[in-house]
Amino acid sequence: MSLMIRGGTVVTADETRRADVYCEDGTIKAVGEGLEAPAGAEVVDAGGALVMPGGIDPHTHMELPFMGTVTTDDFFTGPAAALAGGTTMIIDFVIPDPEGRPMEAWRDWMQRAAKAPSDYSFHVAITNWNEKIEEDMGVLAREHGVNSFKHFMAYKGAIMLDDEKLLASFARCQELGALCTVHAENGELVWHLQQQLLAQGITGPEGHPQSRPPEVEGEAANRAIRIAQVLNAPIYVVHVSCKEALEAVTRARLEGQRAYGECLVQHLVIDDSVYYQEDAETARAYVMSPPFRPKHHQEALWRGLQSGNLQTTATDHCAFCAPQKAAGKDDFTKIPNGTSGVEDRMSVLWHHGVGSGRLTQNEFVALTSTNAARIFNIYPRKGALQPGADADIVVWDPAKTRTISVETHHQNVDFNIFEGMEVSGAAATTISRGRKLWDGSTLNVEEGTGRYVDRPTFPPVFDAVARMQAIKTARRVERADA
Ligand code: URP
Ligand code: ZN
Ligand code: ZN
Repeated sequence: MSLMIRGGTVVTADETRRADVYCEDGTIKAVGEGLEAPAGAEVVDAGGALVMPGGIDPHTHMELPFMGTVTTDDFFTGPAAALAGGTTMIIDFVIPDPEGRPMEAWRDWMQRAAKAPSDYSFHVAITNWNEKIEEDMGVLAREHGVNSFKHFMAYKGAIMLDDEKLLASFARCQELGALCTVHAENGELVWHLQQQLLAQGITGPEGHPQSRPPEVEGEAANRAIRIAQVLNAPIYVVHVSCKEALEAVTRARLEGQRAYGECLVQHLVIDDSVYYQEDAETARAYVMSPPFRPKHHQEALWRGLQSGNLQTTATDHCAFCAPQKAAGKDDFTKIPNGTSGVEDRMSVLWHHGVGSGRLTQNEFVALTSTNAARIFNIYPRKGALQPGADADIVVWDPAKTRTISVETHHQNVDFNIFEGMEVSGAAATTISRGRKLWDGSTLNVEEGTGRYVDRPTFPPVFDAVARMQAIKTARRVERADA
């Protein structure tokens, strides 16, 4: 199977140039001007368009059992919708029952994901701590390509980890050469504020942001980062939504710590007024954690992306329909937490980021694809347009405009949180391992054509300071002996 993308402008995280891209058997074979297409090769005309690495959404939840229900996009419909938006790979989360084993959960998720039309990988959540979990982390990291483990500091009474378990798992990650990822919110504080609000008679969706103020996120982000610093473990904070958490990531990076921050496109463009509208059903549709914030946090997040202190953009795609959200109609703590967006991430970031001049086209590629590939150790197989890389490619039409709507989206959910937003910039063609699966209007997807992507662990972090201390101590001991 061979495919030639002709006449476009190749945009990667590092460069912009006129070039054709030739792909064979799912891999990029050549990038250059005036390439000859062999007889029989399918030709994609990219004239006037940009040719970029396919998007990677590093944070999704397809068919996740959560808060008494299951997310409505599965591993077929979710990745298919993602392809329509230019995203060719997701990294989803295996979330084990706290009484179960991570290995069993990983096998369950592998079965569910077998129908995926495009490539995928898994972070595995650590939801409890014991010897079996510690052992499974080793097997997952060494034999199954899992190089990142997730820790929920919120959702008390369900999947939250206390500090004792959190640091045991962080230490294990460090030992294995895996990345610690965290959902940073102080779950004890959230629970306390929830009980206070309910006692005051606040039961509607407005109770959600009130029980999870930015300080709750800032405290947890800082605590997790400091724990990781002491243990010399690399850390990735998912869905950084506020100035306080961004400051924790930024400080750590200025101190030389290997700390990363992820930003959801939703948090860049939606603010907390959505929780105060009269229509409670619509307000519930926006309930996710961390919640949408007062507007000034959006500017801080944009600066985080521009300065490189936030490296990735994701969606935390976690789709629930109105009847599921209605479980919390009399008690906001029971509204299933989650919003969708996997299909619209790239358009929203292009329009509001590149279109406003905040981001360059190359920065856009870094933020939607390359940085995630680098951080999760799959670069340059993913996130790159170069010979040898997987042919995951989006032909991007910067001039194409559309109005985002539930009426036209491909996500399997009855609401679109970007409803009515007019955006410029859209996927004209999406190619997954050399197969053209989206042509700008139609999906041509089949179950099971996606592959699981192994992510190798990282070499141990070299700690120069600790090494100097060890040398000094050894010299003192030698002198004392002499
Ligand atoms: O509200 C959210 N974010 N739901 C999905 C689970 C999580 O916290 O990532
Ligand atoms: Zn989360
Ligand atoms: Zn999530």
